[in-house]
Amino acid sequence: MSKEANNNYPLMELIKKRWSPRGFSEKSVEPEKILSMFEAARWAASSANSQPWFFIVGVKEDGENYDKVIQCFNPSNQEWAKYAPIVILTVAKLTYDDGSEYIHSFHDVGLATSNLIYQAMSDGLYVHPIGGIQTDKAKKIFEIPEGYKVLTGIIIGYLGDGSNLSDNNKKREAAERKRKQLSDFVFAGQWGQKLNLID
Ligand SMILES: Cc1cc2nc3c(=O)[nH]c(=O)nc-3n(C[C@H](O)[C@H](O)[C@H](O)COP(=O)(O)O)c2cc1C
Repeated sequence: MSKEANNNYPLMELIKKRWSPRGFSEKSVEPEKILSMFEAARWAASSANSQPWFFIVGVKEDGENYDKVIQCFNPSNQEWAKYAPIVILTVAKLTYDDGSEYIHSFHDVGLATSNLIYQAMSDGLYVHPIGGIQTDKAKKIFEIPEGYKVLTGIIIGYLGDGSNLSDNNKKREAAERKRKQLSDFVFAGQWGQKLNLID
């Protein structure tokens, strides 16, 4: 299945191609591709180069580590994520090294995650980020210290044919992708006034 963006202006190929599938293939991911994803995350921009991102990784072949990660997802996400070969939790550090509040930490973990997504896609993989996770459970299972926040889950693998999905998730998988218009969120001059380049 392809759910390419129905874009109004030209896009680079991987942005056009990206979407968040639930129907993953069970095919495992080559170790070098896994390492490239995290290398891409490593080279993201961050405030004062503080690199507040952490990734807790479960690879299917590693049974126990995979189970520890996926049990931290909400059951409705586990239901489809369990077929994917890689599951991840992202964690954000909430302070700079001097102890002051790192207000852009979530932003920077998002930038690193975005790098990871596009590196994975350039290697033929698909990625589905989720917020539906059990953060308290994750903190306990992985003994995550104070000052760090478990932020999201990430599911990665090759695209499947969707045959392993429930009827409800098959419907969601086929649903049209919708977006706001540029005029709804690209402003100039004053809040709410669209940039005049936009039709
Ligand atoms: C922070 C975040 C949380 C999300 N949480 C969930 C989730 O819990 N379950 C799920 O199935 N999808 C989740 N998604 C995927 C979004 O629903 C999806 O990105 C959005 O509908 C746009 O679709 P697209 O990624 O295919 O363009 C999440 C995405 C993000 C970035």
